[in-house]
Amino acid sequence: MRRRITVVGAGNVGATAAQEIARRDYADVVLVDIKEGLPQGKALDLNQAGPVLGYEPNLRGANDYDETADSDIVVITAGLPRRPGMSRDDLVATNEQIVGSVTREAVERSPDAILVVVSNPLDAMCHVAKDASGWPRERAVGMAGILDTARFRTFIAWETGASAKDVTAMVLGGHGDQMVPVVSATTVGGVPLRELASEERIDAMVERTRKGGGEIVELLGTSAWYAPGAAAAEMVDAIALDQKRVLPCTAYLEGEYGIDGLYIGVPVKLGASGVEAIIELDLTDEERAELSGSADAVREVVAVLGRTT
Ligand code: LAC
Repeated sequence: MRRRITVVGAGNVGATAAQEIARRDYADVVLVDIKEGLPQGKALDLNQAGPVLGYEPNLRGANDYDETADSDIVVITAGLPRRPGMSRDDLVATNEQIVGSVTREAVERSPDAILVVVSNPLDAMCHVAKDASGWPRERAVGMAGILDTARFRTFIAWETGASAKDVTAMVLGGHGDQMVPVVSATTVGGVPLRELASEERIDAMVERTRKGGGEIVELLGTSAWYAPGAAAAEMVDAIALDQKRVLPCTAYLEGEYGIDGLYIGVPVKLGASGVEAIIELDLTDEERAELSGSADAVREVVAVLGRTT
């Protein structure tokens, strides 16, 4: 049976995620947005790409949630995107309201779904979705690490002249400037990155990765969507197809990595039940300290939640 996947938010990220999911052709996609005409128009356009690209034209656009009933996965991209000069954290108050409300609407109609949160500030919005749904941590997970890791892998491929496919990396921590690219676990075709690039070049790639979202905001005047949409779709694949992929995702930690009661990016085994395991990497002391610093930064944003409601 075909799955049903809901994507909330028909902006650039939501529409790109819907397109990527539709192209896999194993699911019917419902695209929801409050703006009248927007999800319907994008769904219609995406349907009409189906005969060309070889997928079934089974997308629907809606302004309310009735069409989303019994979804297997709900991807939440709703909320304002970043503008130049804004940090992801500047969005917290507005997007807290939006993500809380769309989560309640969605989970009421799809009580057995798995939530994939994409809205920013990502780590804090995962807390909002978990609290609004009341669901266990297995069924509320965030997308950031795949995107941040994809950026790091891109820079490494350019630096080393290798195929991006052969670059294995893992970016952990919060989806902010203190994210933690785990250099000790980064390899190109199995060769450690430190044997292929100088510390100086690695530091530059780490820094560019940390500022990767901002670099695009500065160029475009709004935040990225191709890589975020593709990254969300990779998580949907892992869950919908029960792939048991180990991917960097934003998960609620209960003591793992010495962090308790906080959403942050860690390697997760992602399958039909959602977060099926949290993998604890053997980090260097420096990486562990960086992860702890990143957790402190996330805690500061999470502490702001609820203040404006
Ligand atoms: C980025 C935004 C989507 O990293 O957070 O591009």
